[in-house]
Amino acid sequence: MARKRKGEGQTALVTGASTGIGVDLAECFARDGYDLILTARSEALLNEVAERLAATHKVKAATVALDLGRQGAGRKLADEIASRGLSVDVLVNNAGYGTAGALDGSDAAEQLGMVDLNVRALTELTQIYWPQMLEKKRGGVLNVASTAAFQPGPLMAVYYASKAFVLSFSEALWREALGTGVHVSCLCPGPTVSKFRERAGTGKTKLKNLGTPMSAESVARMGYRAFRKNQRVMVTGFRNRMLARLGPFLPRKALLNTVHNIQSPA
Ligand SMILES: NC(=O)c1ccc[n+]([C@@H]2O[C@H](COP(=O)([O-])OP(=O)(O)OC[C@H]3O[C@@H](n4cnc5c(N)ncnc54)[C@H](OP(=O)(O)O)[C@@H]3O)[C@@H](O)[C@H]2O)c1
Repeated sequence: MARKRKGEGQTALVTGASTGIGVDLAECFARDGYDLILTARSEALLNEVAERLAATHKVKAATVALDLGRQGAGRKLADEIASRGLSVDVLVNNAGYGTAGALDGSDAAEQLGMVDLNVRALTELTQIYWPQMLEKKRGGVLNVASTAAFQPGPLMAVYYASKAFVLSFSEALWREALGTGVHVSCLCPGPTVSKFRERAGTGKTKLKNLGTPMSAESVARMGYRAFRKNQRVMVTGFRNRMLARLGPFLPRKALLNTVHNIQSPA
């Protein structure tokens, strides 16, 4: 008889699962037998991912296409999930975007959209599913922040601040859930191969000179392993870990100058 996989009987809701890290995170959960609910805006891509993962890993995979940046989108998503008779054991808050450049002259809708998606939707979904996780004493939340979470980001100010929120929120919830059986992990990737850079415009900044980006697959595997172990924070890669640890020891002005330099046009 085949051994029961760790996630069998549980469902993971993965946001931003049409491309990039979200697809690979979904695959990590599917490999361990979790059923999936995948969400993002691109319906065709979502369906392709769902079909592939369901067939490869013999799990159920549902999709809900919607813009999570809209007010109330988290509630709408949860209502749709409930109306299909599905439940959520693990919430993976991965959907997010950034835009490089000074605040002055930037597009207000783009800046506020980052807050709505990276912060608001993540908080809304967590608050919706949190009570039932605590009640069942299992499952949990895997939030995707960034190495940007560890310091302010001149020339990408809103994005860095949004990820600082994600890190702070995740660590606080990790402590609130400690001992309950509910896991909380915050995945903090450094530069990673995905469509993120295209949308963010970070390919035109000095950030691109900081070495080869990691693959989305390896980043996702590290995040998934951290979640399984209830590891509070996972910074991907040795160099990223060192930079994240070093930051707080630098004089604040020097840190701000360094990030300003890295975020400047190449
Ligand atoms: N790549 C990096 O270098 C890097 C580094 C650190 C942290 N991160 C973080 O990693 C996470 C995943 O990013 P990625 O690198 O995989 O980028 P990506 O390839 O651009 O994927 C972003 C995902 O979010 C979805 N999304 C974007 N806007 C959305 C919206 N309004 N509503 C619903 N879904 C939306 C996208 O799907 P649709 O376009 O179909 O909606 C896509 O599935 C993000 O939180 C990002 O901040 C990335």
